[in-house]
Amino acid sequence: MEQRPLTPERAAELQRYIGYGASWLGPALVSGEGCRVTDIHGASYIDCTSQAWSLALGYNHPEVIEAAVAQMRTLAHARAGFPTLPRLLLAEKLADLCPGHLKKVVNAPTGSLAVEAAMKLALINRPTAHRFVTFYHAYHGSTFATMAAGWMPTHTPGRFGPGAKFLPFMQNVVRVPNPYCYRCPLALSYPACGAACARSLGDTIARGVDGPVAAVILEPIQGNGGQIPFPALFVTEVRRICSDFGIPLIFDEIQTGFGRTGRMFALDGLGVAPDMLVLSKSMGGGFPIAAVVADERLTQFEPTGEDVYTFGSNPVAQAAALKVIEVLERDRIPEHAARMGALFTEGLKRLQARHPQIGDIRGPGLFIGVEMVKDPTTKEPATDKAKAIVAQAWQRGVILATASALPNVIKIKPPLIIRESEVGTVLEVLSDCLKAVGS
Ligand SMILES: Cc1ncc(COP(=O)(O)O)c(C=O)c1O
Repeated sequence: MEQRPLTPERAAELQRYIGYGASWLGPALVSGEGCRVTDIHGASYIDCTSQAWSLALGYNHPEVIEAAVAQMRTLAHARAGFPTLPRLLLAEKLADLCPGHLKKVVNAPTGSLAVEAAMKLALINRPTAHRFVTFYHAYHGSTFATMAAGWMPTHTPGRFGPGAKFLPFMQNVVRVPNPYCYRCPLALSYPACGAACARSLGDTIARGVDGPVAAVILEPIQGNGGQIPFPALFVTEVRRICSDFGIPLIFDEIQTGFGRTGRMFALDGLGVAPDMLVLSKSMGGGFPIAAVVADERLTQFEPTGEDVYTFGSNPVAQAAALKVIEVLERDRIPEHAARMGALFTEGLKRLQARHPQIGDIRGPGLFIGVEMVKDPTTKEPATDKAKAIVAQAWQRGVILATASALPNVIKIKPPLIIRESEVGTVLEVLSDCLKAVGS
């Protein structure tokens, strides 16, 4: 059946039928190619949000689409109780990409459900434990358990977040300080500090949690939480503390995985392996897919329905994921992301020299955060300025976003295939926006 074209007015009117739990970000989207997306008004944008940081290879990568269409024609759906060819090949590929004993792949339809699967595995392996430890500003998803594990039930953005309403279903999380070096609460600087802030994790596990801890969950770079990279020394300390206490360590690489940081996984740059690695977003080239890659020495799920979803193992998304990984490796996309990230960072530093309200520029790769402040000495957050810049950029054809937990941080996370000329365009637009919003 041919889709009836909608006028922008009719599209806006039809939105009232949709019950959505977050704010609308813009008008209806119609088509996309490469780094660009076109809306129902015909406006075209360079999308520096990659549709929730998921389109590593950009919109409609022809080879990914071809792989998905070919799979659709062969076998479009199979329930999770059957192995299929793309599922088996993808599991082998993920096991191959991951270091050490990370060899057992659990399929999941979305990131949140994959994090929950990892939490379930942790509980299976620590039968007497009932608490998880996460970090300030963490974001692990939007299900009951994952919302409770993130910043969303806390007062992080200056008000209680949406997750606070759902806490009766999950109150089993204790949070410890994150290594937010730009505003170090210990007033130390890295690396001379020796990652002193990691001590609070050990102290909390020893004295602040009732009973044994099921797992520590960590994003190697917090995205939603404000683009905060966890330094290698900090993560090494976390690993040591978890090992000392016998607590499984879960890396949530849903955002950082598949090349965005300039490496296939952020863990590749940290020299530390978790007991479980959670993946999603860029893995599917836009198709919904997620996975946990668990240490094969852990006790795994029993075949009793401990973790099963009708759409938990979709062959089309898996065929797309196999192609995404093939292209990432073949075209050395992580290295390209590192180069484009360096270009962005250099350009942003030039802008910072003219606009001191750019307080901090964070990476690595194309995982870029720009923290806006009123004054670089007081570091008072300039949230209105960050939001105004994002609004101005929209008008100039660039989609940016601010971090939910730290809304004075602008996120620049385009598809990893972004070209040098497009980096230049985004930097010019940013320069114009900074001038337009004034100091
Ligand atoms: C680090 C991290 N973990 C978990 C999730 C949840 O993934 P999903 O939205 O696919 O459930 C997200 C989504 O933004 C994320 O960034």
